[in-house]
Amino acid sequence: MERRDFRFAPLLATVFLVIAILVAGGCAQKSQTPPAQPTPPTTQPAPASAPAPAPTPPPLSDAAKEGAKLYVSYACVSCHGIGGKGGIANPNNAGGDATIPALTGDDFKKDFGKDEDVAKVIKSGSILNKGKATSMPSWNGVLNDQQITQLTAYIRAGLPDAGVALPAVKTGEDVYNAYACVKCHGPIGKGGVANVAATDPEDKDIPALGSADFHKEFNTTDKIRAHIVGGMVIENGKPSVVYMPKWGDVMKPDEVNLIVNWLNTYK
Ligand code: HEC
Ligand code: HEC
Repeated sequence: MERRDFRFAPLLATVFLVIAILVAGGCAQKSQTPPAQPTPPTTQPAPASAPAPAPTPPPLSDAAKEGAKLYVSYACVSCHGIGGKGGIANPNNAGGDATIPALTGDDFKKDFGKDEDVAKVIKSGSILNKGKATSMPSWNGVLNDQQITQLTAYIRAGLPDAGVALPAVKTGEDVYNAYACVKCHGPIGKGGVANVAATDPEDKDIPALGSADFHKEFNTTDKIRAHIVGGMVIENGKPSVVYMPKWGDVMKPDEVNLIVNWLNTYK
């Protein structure tokens, strides 16, 4: 009775093969899962050295430092933001941008690659929106060429913090200074700077605010308010002629009240 039954041998072989495949597959799958993380030691070893300090930006040139002051005193900061970050709402803009543009970043570098391009837009402004949206004011003659070069140097340097304090705005007179009204209209009641590119003799000077003439024409707070909030484009919107910027979307409502009431009472 030494007879061994070999009829089951193929079947057994198949079963073993299947098991072998399953085990091998299981192992393969297991080997794909990451090994268990060793529990971290309870006390962290002290770092070998302190983290590397952030690279210090190159020091600002003298021109850029002056530009940083102008950026605040000419109210660029109130429209383009601290550090030129942009983003102040410009809701009525027909051109597409819902915010006042940043003066940093790739888009800006692409469109304003050359210093001349930056200087040109500061001088000419943008008259695209003709009063409905906030436009870039023209500063032609209000800022001289040296100041425009200084502003351009600051913009090129990436508008870093240069330690220039933003003015506190508590009174109408503060608004007059903080929003650069004084730079175009001059000391209150005295008359403004020349509007060098204007062709109409009537527009040769930026008007005085607070003069008898002013109060004759702007005899209600509503009239004063409308001009400040809405701005105005003179000379059919030709570039390089200085026009009244539209401040309505930029100034806070209480600042508008301060300046309107102050101008109305300042006689
Ligand atoms: C009343 C708001 C306002 C003030 C103040 C202002 N800007 Fe602008 N600026 C704008 C707007 C809006 C544009 C975009 C114009 C456009 O798209 O046509 C612009 C555009 C520019 C641009 C071109 C960038 C671009 O992408 O179009 C430069 C550069 C610039 N301003 C610099 C300045 C400087 C420097 C000052 C201060 C001397 C200043 N701006 C003050 C509103 C302002
Ligand atoms: C970039 C120069 C500039 C700045 C900055 C500026 N203005 Fe004007 N403003 C003008 C010009 C130019 C006119 C006259 C032509 C016009 O109305 O467009 C004017 C007109 C006015 C008028 C009407 C006076 C008149 O006799 O026509 C008022 C009111 C006024 N501005 C108030 C302000 C106030 C308030 C500020 C600050 C929040 C300010 N302006 C900032 C240029 C400027």
